[in-house]
Amino acid sequence: MKKILIINGPNLNLLGDREKNFYGDTTLEKIQNICQTVCNKYQLECEFFQNNNEGALIDKIQSVDKGYGGIIINPAAYTHTSIAILDALRATSKPKIEIHISNIYAREDYRRKSITSEAVNGVICGFGENSYSLAIEAISKLIYK
Ligand code: DQA
Repeated sequence: MKKILIINGPNLNLLGDREKNFYGDTTLEKIQNICQTVCNKYQLECEFFQNNNEGALIDKIQSVDKGYGGIIINPAAYTHTSIAILDALRATSKPKIEIHISNIYAREDYRRKSITSEAVNGVICGFGENSYSLAIEAISKLIYK
């Protein structure tokens, strides 16, 4: 069974309380539980990770070539700013999917540009917590093709 890494960037630990009009009221813990269930359905093992620091996210991305089949990442605000995260994603040849809970293309101008998406196979955004489940289905197709 292949293992995937699901990485969550800054402030996503506050889901459930934070800007519910954009992100809904589901907590990150609940999303993690949903991801485990969906991964089981697609014969994937799942490791779920959240951190507020750019360096910690990069360290985790760098571990993907050691034992993981692919990576799903919600880089949160670093999506729009981090060339370092882009470079870390580019350094791995494993399947990569970027996700967002909200539709970043329907929000403020500064959110409409994703720097990190230049390194991924595809982007899923705007489906609320379901963006995670859709990304797991999509990555299973890339991993078990
Ligand atoms: C987000 C969108 C980002 O613009 C924002 O900074 C986030 C969450 C999303 O999941 O919709 O923190 O990545």
